[in-house]
Amino acid sequence: MPVIKLETDIHSHILPGIDDGAANINESLDMVKAFIAQGYTKIITTPHIHSLRYWNTKDSIQKAYDILIEAMSKEGLHLDIEFAAEYYLDNKFLELICQDEEILNFSENKYVLIEFSFKSPPIGVDMVYNKLVDKGYQPVIAHPERYEYWVGNLGMFERLRDIGYLFQCNIHSAAGLYGKIPMRIFNDLSGKNWIEFLGSDAHSTHAVSQLGTSIQRSAVQKAILNGVRNHAL
Ligand SMILES: [Fe+2]
Repeated sequence: MPVIKLETDIHSHILPGIDDGAANINESLDMVKAFIAQGYTKIITTPHIHSLRYWNTKDSIQKAYDILIEAMSKEGLHLDIEFAAEYYLDNKFLELICQDEEILNFSENKYVLIEFSFKSPPIGVDMVYNKLVDKGYQPVIAHPERYEYWVGNLGMFERLRDIGYLFQCNIHSAAGLYGKIPMRIFNDLSGKNWIEFLGSDAHSTHAVSQLGTSIQRSAVQKAILNGVRNHAL
């Protein structure tokens, strides 16, 4: 069967110098070229917002975005790029969602990408969900398969879905790039048809270049065939 590819990516770190992705504009441009070479036409890039590491704001992201768009125009590169953010669930995020400030989001459905700690399970997932939904947002959990503390605990993933969270899985997880456990959880989630979005989570040109290989994994193809929402963006 021919491999089905994606044209829209919703999770990456391509903006220059504002998180642990592209370190400078040259790296950003290389990543853009790699996405184009992989057949992508649209990227919703999602810089980290993390109170201890990368306290980005809409302004800091907008500035880096403007630098990239200008450099792409000078080089004649055509790729539709928008930005949102990848919010880390920490106290600062809790403060933010309790205020009246805008939360960076994407699509008319106002999807908000949230990541949890890799070390310990999050607390307050019901409250976070309800706060965001009350403000008109739809929370999406970034790479649920990478939260290894939930391996073998499909019930926890089911609970998150029952609350109303959507799942965005990383394409490279299916190829084992983060290890065996994320690959196993990816397979489990794909088997359940619980993957609403696929993302590259690319932090480097190499990660973008490898997408064509990882996307061939049967669990990724199954998620695409099942109708991931990337196509609707
Ligand atoms: Fe990310």
